[in-house]
Amino acid sequence: MISVRADAGRILIGKQLLPQTGKRCQALRLFGQCAIVSDTNVARQYADILKQSLISTGFRPTVITIPAGEKSKTLEQAGVICDRMIAAGLDRQSFIIGLGGGVIGDISGFVAAIYHRGIPHVQIPTTLLAMVDSSIGGKTGVNTRDGKNLIGAVHHPLLVIDDLDVLKTLPRREFNQGFAEIIKHAVIADDKMFRTLQSWGARSPRRPLALQSLIKRNIEIKSRIVAKDERDRTGERALLNFGHTVGHAIERAGDYRKFLHGEALSLGIVAACAISKRRAGLAPDQRDAIVDLLRQFELPTTLPKNFPREKVFDALKFDKKFEGGKVRFVVTPRVGAAHLANDVTLDDIREAVKDL
Ligand SMILES: NC(=O)c1ccc[n+]([C@@H]2O[C@H](COP(=O)([O-])OP(=O)(O)OC[C@H]3O[C@@H](n4cnc5c(N)ncnc54)[C@H](O)[C@@H]3O)[C@@H](O)[C@H]2O)c1
Ligand SMILES: [Zn+2]
Repeated sequence: MISVRADAGRILIGKQLLPQTGKRCQALRLFGQCAIVSDTNVARQYADILKQSLISTGFRPTVITIPAGEKSKTLEQAGVICDRMIAAGLDRQSFIIGLGGGVIGDISGFVAAIYHRGIPHVQIPTTLLAMVDSSIGGKTGVNTRDGKNLIGAVHHPLLVIDDLDVLKTLPRREFNQGFAEIIKHAVIADDKMFRTLQSWGARSPRRPLALQSLIKRNIEIKSRIVAKDERDRTGERALLNFGHTVGHAIERAGDYRKFLHGEALSLGIVAACAISKRRAGLAPDQRDAIVDLLRQFELPTTLPKNFPREKVFDALKFDKKFEGGKVRFVVTPRVGAAHLANDVTLDDIREAVKDL
């Protein structure tokens, strides 16, 4: 097992960690009652192991399960969780454990931020995406009818437990989408990690030791960037949005059904590379290497011929402010570096999406 300090808490990465949760919580002087918030898919596999670990160390857990999927990430559902916690007698000495992917991390963290004006949050991410991205940085929240993540709070988890064993049951498509965020981190901040990923070739990426150090490295990259700009004020944190301007637009154009977030991001990265060639001097062979790496992890790099590209432009205009026809856009001049460009135009983006 390895341990990393990040944000306001500690992150443990290794195998066989889920059954040790009770002991780990004790070590942080947590005690008494807690809520385990999970979704239907994850609870079926792992809630009992977690519950037993907590009971055997003297905690009194209440399991609260919500339907799996993004549609559960609402204020309404957060209210239901709060009501269940009140009914079970949880008070301000209690704490919450989120057991699941990014959806559970975001909603359980949000409830932890508002319940009795804030109680400790422990996260047990069960998707690769949640381990390398959503469990870091302290952003929590829910969606509204009009958009994603419009309501939320910054509330850092006290403890994050990344148990590699839970990834064994994660469907392959869900596993691969985590690599879109990992490749994004490599492109914006770490050319060495980029080469390591290339060297993995077709070998199974599920090897625990390789995954352990990869997850650790991604946590370091994201938390370093977040520490410089926690509240999105200086532009540093915006670098994490590399590939996301077009990625979000594609996700929305596909009604959040056609592509998983990481898949839309993969396409967004391809578009951002085309724009980087034009506006930041990205060399063609570097662009090709990035696209090859996305393909290596079975991520899409072209849009289906019949995909409604016009809907992508509509979504872009909905999402972004184009001042004087220009937008702030993250570009990469070479693998391992990124900056915000102010001179990217809607036409640049339109061209890049047309070529996808
Ligand atoms: N807070 C942040 O900084 C941040 C950053 C990135 C993404 N997010 C959020 O994260 C969410 C996406 O997260 P996600 O991709 O993890 O989605 P998710 O939580 O919906 O999980 C994906 C699917 O996999 C299932 N699953 C999870 N773990 C499993 C396991 N070990 N075995 C079998 N099935 C499992 C889930 O039930 C679900 O059906 C979005 O809501 C996004 O907004 C937040
Ligand atoms: Zn993302």
